[in-house]
Amino acid sequence: MIDPHACPTTTLLLFGATGDLAQRYLFPSLLRLHADGLLPAGLRIRGLALSAHDDAGFADLLRQRLLEAAPDAQVAAAIEGLLARVQYRSVDLSDSAAVTAAVADVGGGTCLSYLSIPPALYPSTAQGLAQAGALAAPSRLMLEKPIGSDGASADALLEQIAGLIEEERTYRVDHYLGKAAVQNLMALRFGNTLLEAVWNRNHIESVHILVAESGGVDGRSAYYAQAGALRDMVQSHILQLLALVAMEPPVSLQADRIRDEKVKVLRSLRPLDPKTAAPLTLRARYGAGRIDGQDVPGYVPPAGTDPETFAAVTAHIDNWRWAGVPFHLVTGKRLPCRSTQVVITLKPVSHWLFDKPSRGQAQPNRITLQLQPNENIQLGLLSSLAGPEWGALELQPLALELSVPTGQQRRIAYERLFLDALSGNSALFVRADEVRAAWAWTDSVLAAWQQAGLAMGSYPAGQWGPQRAAQFLPANLLEPTLP
Ligand code: BG6
Repeated sequence: MIDPHACPTTTLLLFGATGDLAQRYLFPSLLRLHADGLLPAGLRIRGLALSAHDDAGFADLLRQRLLEAAPDAQVAAAIEGLLARVQYRSVDLSDSAAVTAAVADVGGGTCLSYLSIPPALYPSTAQGLAQAGALAAPSRLMLEKPIGSDGASADALLEQIAGLIEEERTYRVDHYLGKAAVQNLMALRFGNTLLEAVWNRNHIESVHILVAESGGVDGRSAYYAQAGALRDMVQSHILQLLALVAMEPPVSLQADRIRDEKVKVLRSLRPLDPKTAAPLTLRARYGAGRIDGQDVPGYVPPAGTDPETFAAVTAHIDNWRWAGVPFHLVTGKRLPCRSTQVVITLKPVSHWLFDKPSRGQAQPNRITLQLQPNENIQLGLLSSLAGPEWGALELQPLALELSVPTGQQRRIAYERLFLDALSGNSALFVRADEVRAAWAWTDSVLAAWQQAGLAMGSYPAGQWGPQRAAQFLPANLLEPTLP
């Protein structure tokens, strides 16, 4: 086991430094960590990308983005301090020798390399790093999603990288795992008898996992047209949420004990086949519509591509705990609002005593875990509002709502992931076997779509997907709000 504290990271090599992710999230996260004194004292940051800049030119570009991203004056005041750590090198990442040359002078220290670049460039970049000694222990490698575009390409990539650096020093990012609200899923499940006691097929009727976005494909069409919502969101973020919701309690919080349990869930997912494609899935693409009172255009993908922007799948986990419980997974762009939620619908009580409502009309108990944009837990119960003058008990839905008191502002997901990678904690990163298991199931959906010739549906921007989406969406989303 490497003790990262004994060899603090001396250089962070950030590949894709001029890209959208780096500029919008990675550098702003580093800024906040720097402002809070959480980066190792001597850490140098080297940005690398194809565009030609010298150090000063890159600093100017970054300064502007950091000023826009800084949440307050205290963080803004730390910008120059962060920039003093930053250098830049222009490099063609398809040329491993050029990568070696661009990092040759830092190869001797402990490096953390972050690849925020198209996965096709991972092998040449990692090869160049290895040749420069920048992947030698105790250095570490962070890889952004997606790892491949199907099981076969993921396998090839995983193997190429495994030939250059060990699994325990490879940190595959799924930024949803860096979100405090997502980590809270484990705390809620395993810290509370109340929830864990009912968390199984005996008490749970169904589970909905919804990741809705109001944003569109916008500037990312080149990537998105090849990917679509299933590969972009379901294979990664949604399956990670599902694994956290469905896994058995790990024996400890050690990284591999958590990941052992998650991978078991992913391996238990029942593959889809062409016969189940039509009843159990839905894919669609948004057309023009209105969101928040604004007209928004439809998504027109490049010729020859046919990506869905909305995907819904009813998944089944074939294991002891979840046999027979449908997991409805839904994601979409240009839906009416941004909302990530896990909704657990419980089974009805075993013997119904009441006339009003009748058994069939009673709303089921529901636990709604709202993860984004706000963190909130809602417990949907039934209670009687009847006064003593009324003859019979009449049950009404009663929602107990708890907004999660997050104390100080939650950190951006990437801040937590940087801190963990810097300190060598891989619990919130995706292990190779999880990637493989997630692709195995995703491939079955893609193949089922193809073999069944499943037609692409459509929906106007600003609506909850096409009409049949109601079959997959949590009922409380479509129910009128409680008084
Ligand atoms: C990314 C996807 O991984 O996650 C994007 O590629 C998506 O398409 C984004 O918009 C959503 O992340 P968040 O943190 O805004 O929910």
